[in-house]
Amino acid sequence: MTSPNALAGFSDRCRTMVDHSLSAILPTASDVSPRLLAAMHYSTFNGGKRVRPMLAYAACHALGGKIEQADPAACAVELIHAYSLVHDDLPAMDNDDLRRGKPTCHKAYDEATAILVGDALQSLAFEVLANNQLCPQPLLTDQVRLQLVRTLSQAAGLAGMAGGQAMDLYATGGALNQQQLGLMHAHKTGALIQASVRMGALCALPEHSEQSASLQALDQYARAIGLAFQVQDDILDVTANTETLGKQQGADNALGKSTYVSLMGLKQAGTFAQELCHSAIDALKGLDQQADVLRQIAGYIVQREY
Ligand code: IPE
Ligand code: IPE
Ligand code: MG
Ligand code: MG
Ligand code: MG
Repeated sequence: MTSPNALAGFSDRCRTMVDHSLSAILPTASDVSPRLLAAMHYSTFNGGKRVRPMLAYAACHALGGKIEQADPAACAVELIHAYSLVHDDLPAMDNDDLRRGKPTCHKAYDEATAILVGDALQSLAFEVLANNQLCPQPLLTDQVRLQLVRTLSQAAGLAGMAGGQAMDLYATGGALNQQQLGLMHAHKTGALIQASVRMGALCALPEHSEQSASLQALDQYARAIGLAFQVQDDILDVTANTETLGKQQGADNALGKSTYVSLMGLKQAGTFAQELCHSAIDALKGLDQQADVLRQIAGYIVQREY
């Protein structure tokens, strides 16, 4: 698993697996609100890269698990991510019209529906973890499922993504220093990326292994790529075009967002992303070749073009 093409093969496998599982998880019909259900489908199956599921599967693989063991974790984290994007695009937040090359949820439907889509995807994420009928995985014990719920709830809330989004909103129009920006990015984007890796790992480990050395190494890896992911997102907002990105290019600048590019300029932001990629790979030095996929994902995160 060392050639770059191997990552493409792994990522295709992950995408197929998570898409298949998510299709089975989302209801096909609703007597209560077909419109809300349709908007949930629209926001889940609209061409996301599925990076977080891939990280969960890869972390599970790195610790010797079968990748399907991480399926509930992969689905749950992608549902939280999908919800976070629907809310992120709302007029009260980033006010974006385009997401993944299509109208944002509130444009295709309406604002109230988009708020409810976020609410419903978030609760579905936790149902996936708590209800072993919805996303069956015989190798996962109830104890591990509980660890997954704990990890994801912390990463999605005030101490994670939602808190980071609040920092982002309150900082809009002002300028954060590097320490504040690091804190904001670590929360709004890093927390869910760290949770993806940790949850995948928890699916492979025996119960009560939360202190294991491998898990600590993976946490360190995930902290670095979590930040690198958002630094690259900030860079692409400036360098990519709208068609490739599938979202409006230049949106950060137009809104006066604090980003790594606004803080340190394009070139230094790129150097910083590369440094983070190297420290992520370095954190994995105690892990064997089963962790090669994770090493390759670190490179992909800072080289990606959308
Ligand atoms: C976009 O995430 C939002 C950030 C946290 C930077 P992705 O770049 O993973 O978005 P999709 O899921 O591929 O559309
Ligand atoms: C979004 O960050 C982070 C979350 C959705 C939690 P951005 O606002 O930079 O994401 P994009 O650029 O709209 O995808
Ligand atoms: Mg935002
Ligand atoms: Mg946004
Ligand atoms: Mg962005």
